[in-house]
Amino acid sequence: MTELIWDGKYKDGKKQGPVRIALPFQTIETVNESAQDRQRTLELFAQGRQTEWRNRLIWGDKKYVLPSLLPEFAGKVDLIYIDPPFDTGADFSYTATIPVHPDTAEDETAYFAKKPSIVEQKAYRDTWGRNFDSYAAWFYEAATFLRELLTEDGTVFVHIGQNISHYVKLILDEVFGRDRYLNEIIWRRQTAHSDVAQGAEHLGRLHDVVFLYTKSESYKWDVQYTSYDDSYIEAFYRHIEPETGRRYRLSDITAPGKSLKGNPHYEFLGITRYWRFSEKRMKELYKEGRVVQTRPGTVPAQKRYLDEMPGVPLQDLWLDIKPIQSQAAERLGYDTQKPEALLERILNLSSREGDLVLDCFAGSGTTAAVAEKLNRRWIACDLGRFAIHTTRKRLLGIPGVKPFTVQNLGKYERQAWQAAEFDVGAKRGGEADSSSPSAPQNDRQGTAAQNDKAGDVTLSPSPVILREAKDLLLERRDREMAYRKFILDLYHATPVSGYSWLHGTKSGRMVHVGAVDAPVTLADVKAIAKEVWKAAGASRGTGVPPVGGHGQDAHATGDRPTPTKAAVDILGWEFAFELNETAKQTAAESRVTVAFKKIPHEALDKKAVDQGDVKFFELGALSVGLKQIPRSARNDGAREVTLTLQDFVIPIDDIPVEVRKAIKHWSQLVDYWAVDWHYKGDTFHNQWQSYRTRKDPKISLDVSYLYPEPGKYTIVVKVIDILGNDTTKTLDVEAK
Ligand SMILES: C[S@@+](CC[C@H](N)C(=O)[O-])C[C@H]1O[C@@H](n2cnc3c(N)ncnc32)[C@H](O)[C@@H]1O
Repeated sequence: MTELIWDGKYKDGKKQGPVRIALPFQTIETVNESAQDRQRTLELFAQGRQTEWRNRLIWGDKKYVLPSLLPEFAGKVDLIYIDPPFDTGADFSYTATIPVHPDTAEDETAYFAKKPSIVEQKAYRDTWGRNFDSYAAWFYEAATFLRELLTEDGTVFVHIGQNISHYVKLILDEVFGRDRYLNEIIWRRQTAHSDVAQGAEHLGRLHDVVFLYTKSESYKWDVQYTSYDDSYIEAFYRHIEPETGRRYRLSDITAPGKSLKGNPHYEFLGITRYWRFSEKRMKELYKEGRVVQTRPGTVPAQKRYLDEMPGVPLQDLWLDIKPIQSQAAERLGYDTQKPEALLERILNLSSREGDLVLDCFAGSGTTAAVAEKLNRRWIACDLGRFAIHTTRKRLLGIPGVKPFTVQNLGKYERQAWQAAEFDVGAKRGGEADSSSPSAPQNDRQGTAAQNDKAGDVTLSPSPVILREAKDLLLERRDREMAYRKFILDLYHATPVSGYSWLHGTKSGRMVHVGAVDAPVTLADVKAIAKEVWKAAGASRGTGVPPVGGHGQDAHATGDRPTPTKAAVDILGWEFAFELNETAKQTAAESRVTVAFKKIPHEALDKKAVDQGDVKFFELGALSVGLKQIPRSARNDGAREVTLTLQDFVIPIDDIPVEVRKAIKHWSQLVDYWAVDWHYKGDTFHNQWQSYRTRKDPKISLDVSYLYPEPGKYTIVVKVIDILGNDTTKTLDVEAK
């Protein structure tokens, strides 16, 4: 067979399969689930029973997400549509909006193009870093997993640019089989190009390609029809019925095969012929006005109304679906957004209600939105945080949207990174770590379980096992130390030793590096603050820490350098919900100043690290007011609680300086906020939300809720800012 070869496709004569790391998904949010459904899900889960299906919006790289879907969904996805990046880094850009300040009369909404984040740039480099060689390997990997996910009667639609479609076709032929190729659809995405004026010396490039493949010979297929074009209507449906205005054509009803085909021969309205209909049926049609004789002596004909025709069976040239215009209602500021009409056609063609639809390059969520509207189940994934946020808002705007979950691979992706990046096992025993990319995992246990091994060790009296256990623990300790040193270097801090909770020092402040796989909790903060207090006190020999102080890093007192002030920077990947305010307060009570800084996802990317542009942002600070109206003060006896957003502060480094002046009030930074009134310590359940859309850019800053039952409740408020970052806050309330 003829095949496409790219650099790295074969190693020692063997074709390289994709790396299969299956990681467990973590649900970070459930959207739009009623309290009853939530309770039912919890009960089913507790009983170990199958919970009800939830559509899924997954934030992650397809290279991890697709193999992680396989254990649950191999052979179960009915239709896949993908629209992968196929051009330039622009695939990841989006237009961020600073909405108008509420007290400003004129529209001063400001926009700026949000450049791809470092993670997104990395994905772009993975895809295009070695030109088409890397793209081919990247695409081949995706196609292989997608085929495994498809049901036997499933179909896949691959939307791709004409610049690379020919190569992609060969890869699809290889993965799906040449005989599984069904169509190359040409979608005209623009009507004309004006680049001739700029000196372009080629024909206008107006179309994208959508390849259609099936998994097997039998597949779901519902013929679609398109409307007739005007010239066809003018030529064939020339007649208009005066009484109704309906257009119709006259069709011949004489039988072509005469008696050979058994057609009846009789006289009708004075004309004797072989006819298509029996004499009885002919009379009925005449009575109904469906058969007419235009003038005496002419051959009767059948009247066919235009409005009763299904249209033209769909062909592979799609010229009738317009791109999204700048003023279109469905436009969401996502440069590569595709029209819903395109996805509607695709889903109607080859999927039915209840079927499962997958798109692992979701972008603004067109596939998920159309699947939702057409009653399909869906899984949508994207690497971009803004893509996930845009999709979530888009779905919430669909009336009656079914509950869905937002998931990621969170700590497991980071564990995989830690194990691969700080492979101390090789140094110690000379054996490669089984979770490193050189030894890809094939099962669901994957890296996460491997990493937990050291913690699970039970000591046995056997000296061999004891030695192995010790080795594992040492290996784990070394790995964690290497990891901490790496993060401290990134943060430009100096490592220190001799403490339990403190790992470094910077500008006189101590630094704590949070674990790769657990959020920083309030208990951690208390322990950290205690140790900082002690350490700072020790530096003066008084037990009382100095306040303030500038300058040098820790005093070198042997292994345990001491800070010059009672202050600590806590670096973490994730922070427990309640952390920011409560923990700062707790730390302040211990007279320790605390700053929480997010370890950016970019830290996982070696190239971003080498470039030196990894930033640690401080956690956003959210202030929420809570007001209760006592039961006695209401006529209906309900327990009313009102929340008001009072202040919100985020690091605004990502907003270009010239656009910052448009920010006159903190509320302009809030793009979306949601509330879980019954937080149970599991995941955030979005029970109410307010958000800005292009049509309605206003956001309400307060919300009330009636608790039907008395009791103590925990409320979680989640704010997503205009850059797509989220900040949460927890409040406790007692409804009496
Ligand atoms: C062309 S856009 C999709 C647009 C989408 N069809 C729509 O209508 O909005 C491609 C998307 O793929 C995402 N992407 C690129 N590389 C990815 C990867 N490795 N894993 C997951 N998503 C990725 C980008 O973030 C971008 O949103």
